[in-house]
Amino acid sequence: MQVIYRILRFARLSVPVVLVWLLSACSEGQQALDSSPGSAQHPAAGNALVVYKSPTCGCCEAWIHHIESAGFTAEIMHPTDLNQIKLENDISPAYQSCHTAVSEEGYLFEGHIPAQYIRQFLKNPPADAIGLAVPGMPPGSPGMEMGDRFSPYQVLLLKKDGSHEVFARVDRQEEQYQ
Ligand code: CU
Ligand code: CU
Repeated sequence: MQVIYRILRFARLSVPVVLVWLLSACSEGQQALDSSPGSAQHPAAGNALVVYKSPTCGCCEAWIHHIESAGFTAEIMHPTDLNQIKLENDISPAYQSCHTAVSEEGYLFEGHIPAQYIRQFLKNPPADAIGLAVPGMPPGSPGMEMGDRFSPYQVLLLKKDGSHEVFARVDRQEEQYQ
């Protein structure tokens, strides 16, 4: 009798423990499930970007949607000092825009660059380059769409010595989504 009582008492005590264990196992399972579609989106290396932006900037969000729909993944960072990120990465004010993206290899993509040029750059990065930039925020560039408004702009190749070359010219809005 005593033994049965002890077993019952043990069982009652252990119910909450078992429940907590089940719940934590469940959330671990959930995390594993959550991460699997993400990893399925990284079939090849070089399409993951870390994007530094301001939490209140809508055009950055729109640009992130643009690169994600082109097959990139974006890890979003909201540093307290966005300027510090540009300083640390030697992006001079003449090249700066609202957000800075960094590839796994450490290449920089400043501003509203069409995804196709990022892909083209990463496929074959020039030896003396640190990345690409679209300075300012050209109206009609990816993430800066405003109906029919479009200003032709250049995608600049940023060099290690601080100089730049023209990497691409974007003359028509349709060219951005190839
Ligand atoms: Cu912007
Ligand atoms: Cu932005």
